[in-house]
Parts: sequence; structure tokens; C-alpha cells
Amino acid sequence: MRNLERMWWPCLAIVVLVLPAAAWGADASGVTAEGKQLFQHEFTPGKTAEGGDGLGPVFNHHSCAACHSLAGTGGAGPVDVNAVTLTADLTDRNRMPTRKGLATVLREIHGGFVGERETITPSILLHRFSTDSEYAGLQRELGGPDIPLEPTPQDRNRIQRELARQPKTQVKWPKLITLELTQRNTTALFGAGAIDQIPAAALEALAATQAKKGEVSGRVPPIGLAKVGRFGWRGQTERLHDFVIGACSNELGLEVPGSPQPTDPMRPRYRPGGYDLTAAQCASLTAYVASLPQPKFELPKQAERRALVLQGRSLFDVVGCAACHVERIGPVEGLYSDLLLHDMGTALADPIPAEATFEYHADAPLPKGAAEKVAMTRSENLPLRPRGYYGESSLANLLGGGTSTMIAVNPKTGIRSEFRVVATSVEQEWRTPPLWGVADSAPYLHDGRADSLVDAIALHGGEADASMKKFFELPITERMAVLEFLCCLRAP
Ligand code: HEC
Ligand code: HEC
Repeated sequence: MRNLERMWWPCLAIVVLVLPAAAWGADASGVTAEGKQLFQHEFTPGKTAEGGDGLGPVFNHHSCAACHSLAGTGGAGPVDVNAVTLTADLTDRNRMPTRKGLATVLREIHGGFVGERETITPSILLHRFSTDSEYAGLQRELGGPDIPLEPTPQDRNRIQRELARQPKTQVKWPKLITLELTQRNTTALFGAGAIDQIPAAALEALAATQAKKGEVSGRVPPIGLAKVGRFGWRGQTERLHDFVIGACSNELGLEVPGSPQPTDPMRPRYRPGGYDLTAAQCASLTAYVASLPQPKFELPKQAERRALVLQGRSLFDVVGCAACHVERIGPVEGLYSDLLLHDMGTALADPIPAEATFEYHADAPLPKGAAEKVAMTRSENLPLRPRGYYGESSLANLLGGGTSTMIAVNPKTGIRSEFRVVATSVEQEWRTPPLWGVADSAPYLHDGRADSLVDAIALHGGEADASMKKFFELPITERMAVLEFLCCLRAP
């Protein structure tokens, strides 16, 4: 088991970046107003006040609001604005060239796979657009879906059908490497501020309760050795602010403090002259997202429907949905999620894994009281630690499953530490999505392949298999009651 309390790393200071509480203090409304304006702002390429280059060179859309649009600004997104990810399959070690050779091969495919000092990122975003007109050719060659910027309803139906039929596509690249394309559905941001406040201990407690009961077995999304993920379909991000600055760069191609814009595959060595947004602007953007109201449970007025909805709510418990979609975590009421990772079965597997869990052993005994003070930072001391598209490790991918041991030596003290990577089905694990607002956020699941609530439920497998089957064994009227209940979980 992961034991964060005993984690200790000598000589490593942790710098925890917290937004000053003052950001939400006296001038909070001014800050969120600026944040709202930035969220809706349509960015364009070109010089910015901070010395940056504006939108791009590669980007997925021109504003946050363009994707987060359903049921109001900050909502979920339709299927056509899905983010597309490109993964190089590096699991077949026998077919791999040497590390240096691998970097060369990957760089020829897309510069984003190879970072500074030849670090390899097996999964990247395949952006939809670029300021470079020749990019479209590369994007097509890599199998990028052809999706118009402003699709008609017919286009949208076609895209939805294609995705449901084939959520993963393989691209054969002549030289050794198989590439796989998968997608990510745009989540709604309502209530994100409340999720950001949920203490890690509350998630640990939920996981412990589930382990005891044995019905389901959620895992706290780990981030490195000492942090807990709260955001993203894989629970891959700890704090709302981290996700917001990641979105600035990954989705819009903005260079912002703490998150560089993605590599332009047409000019891999190009760097912008400065930032596109200041740290204060990024803080405003986060403050705005955090201020978005929580979704509501709306009981219908009409007595008969009301009774049906209440029946549905209790059946939701009875068939075991509530084991994962828990109504409340700590002070956050009506969330319908445990925010834990669950193995959802092979049909929902995706090549960008959830982060593996680490066990840590140090040669030297831990000094008293060290636990609270010191923790391991993410990437610095782990050998072989590539960064994924989300900036996290894809270690499990490289290790090819199973349990592996890695040794890290602290260069200053010479203390040897052993990390055991505990295998779970990292490619099949998803963070339970909060169901608040679910009536207004179709399509569903991590890639948006399900266009209705029933389809989303039908695709539950793995740990949720028993619950899914119980749902479909209910008489039709009772199934309808559960769906009626879900339809009362509305965006604010
Ligand atoms: C091209 C569409 C697109 C654009 C533009 C976009 N997003 Fe997103 N957003 C997504 C997708 C897709 C996800 C889900 C990613 C994941 O979980 O891996 C997401 C997830 C998020 C989340 C995490 C929510 C959660 O509960 O896990 C936040 C916060 C967020 N976006 C904020 C922003 C902000 C702020 C901007 C503008 C700077 C922005 N997004 C621009 C598509 C977009
Ligand atoms: C073992 C935990 C677990 C159980 C039990 C479970 N779910 Fe889920 N549910 C999840 C996870 C994880 C996902 C996301 C899967 C993905 O995106 O690939 C999900 C997704 C959903 C979605 C789509 C939400 C969205 O925003 O895309 C709905 C709706 C849903 N579940 C309803 C139900 C209902 C109804 C039941 C009971 C019949 C149920 N779930 C039982 C874990 C669970």
C-alpha cells in the first residue's frame, strides 16, 4: 500500500504553489470578472503584451468558452470539440530502437514526443489547428479526424456515430512504431471550486471504506508520491489552478507561467519570446472557474413525477450505483462521485494510463516528524520518468505492466531508495465522474462515445459490471425511474 505519511526525502524542499487567499478576498468580484472575460476571450495569433505569440502555433480552439459551452459558459462540450490524443506504442521492447534512436524516430513523427534532454513523452495532443498552413497535411497523415470548426447538426451526428463505432484508431507508421488515436470529452466546470476544496483525507477515507466493504475498490488517484488528483478523467491533476494553466497552453497554445505552450511539430525548436498571460491573469481565470455555481438537484413539482424521481433515487442506491457515485464528500453535497479511480473493464481502456501507485522504501530510517515536512517531488528523482500529455508519468506504460522496482539514489546524501510500482489496470481506470449536472452534459464517458444516459450505463464494466447488470435487470418502469432521477441533476 502507498503510505504517504511515512514518505520522506532528504534535501528536497517542496514548493507548494497556492494562490493567495487574497485572490478571493476583498476584490474577488473584480478578479472573477477579469477571469470571466479571459474565459470568453477569443484569442488570436500574434504578439501579446507579455512578449508571447498569442493563440497557437498549435491549438484546439480559440477560447475556453468555445469548448465549455453546453448549458451556459463553463459547461461541458459537444463531441466535435473533443481533444484528440496520439500515443506511440512503446510497450514492445523487442521492436524498439535504442533510446537515442527512439527519440530520432519519434521526432520524425511529431516533435511533441521528444522534449528537452531527449525526454520521451509517449502520449501527446494531436491539435486540431495550427497557424502553419502545412500542419494540416501532417495532421491528416497522423490520422487526425477531419472535423469542421463549426459543424452542422448532421456533421455532429456523423462524428458521434463514428466515435461510438470506433473509439480508438490505429495509425501504422512505416518505421516500427504503431500510433493510436483516442479522444477526451470536455467536462463541465460547474462546482469545480468546491471539488478543489475536498481534502485528500476524505478521498483516502472513502477508499478505505470501499476496501472494507468489498463491493467496489476505488483507488485514490496518486500524483507522484505525495499528492492526490482531483481533476481530469484520470484524476491526473491535483488542483484546479494546475488544470487551468494546463488548459491555457494545451488547448489554446498560450505560454503561461508554470505551463509552456506545446511543441510546434513544424518547428520543434521554436520558443515564444515571452508569456501570453501574466500569473495574475491566470489566477483570475482560476478564480472565475472556481466561482462557477454548483449544479442542482431539481425535484419536479408534479406529484406523480416527483414520486418517480424519489423512487429512482433509492433504486440508484439499491443497484449499487451509489457505491461509486456517492452523493456527498465532506462538505460537498450532491456531487454523486467518490473521485476515485475504478477499473471499468476492457471496453473503456485507453492507452494514456492513470498513474500507478508507488511503494517507497528508504535505506535510512526516517527521522522523527519528517513525514509532515518532506515529500518527494514528482519528476526530479525518478529515473526513466517520461512526461505524458498531461504532464504526468506514463511510467506504467513503459514498464509494460506488472510490478517493477526502481532504484533512485539521492546524489547529495547517497541514500538509496527503492520504489515499487504497483500494477493496477491503469489503462482501464477512470475517475468516477461527478453526476451533478449530468442531465445537461451529453455526450458521456471519457471520450464522449455514449450519446445517452442508457448507453453510458450499458458501457459500465469491470468493477461496475454487477451494478450495471442489476440496473438492466430492473423492470422497465424502475429503470425509467433511475433515468428520471438522473434527469433531475441539472446544470445551474
Ligand atoms: C478544445 C476544447 C477545450 C478548450 C478550448 C478548453 N478545454 Fe477545458 N477541457 C477540455 C477537455 C477535453 C477536458 C477533459 C480533459 C481530461 O480530463 O483529460 C477539459 C477539462 C477541463 C478542466 C477539468 C475539469 C474536471 O473536473 O476535471 C478544467 C478546469 C478546464 N478544462 C478548464 C479550461 C480552461 C480554463 C480553458 C481555457 C484556458 C479550457 N478548459 C479550454 C476541452 C477544452
Ligand atoms: C465501480 C464504480 C461505478 C459504479 C458502480 C457505477 N459507475 Fe457510473 N461511472 C463510473 C466511472 C469510472 C465512469 C466514467 C467511465 C468512463 O468515462 O470511461 C462512470 C460514468 C457514468 C456516467 C456518465 C457520466 C459522464 O459525465 O460522462 C453515468 C451517467 C453513470 N456513470 C451512471 C451510473 C449508474 C446509473 C450506475 C448504476 C447502474 C453507475 N453509474 C454505476 C463508475 C461507476
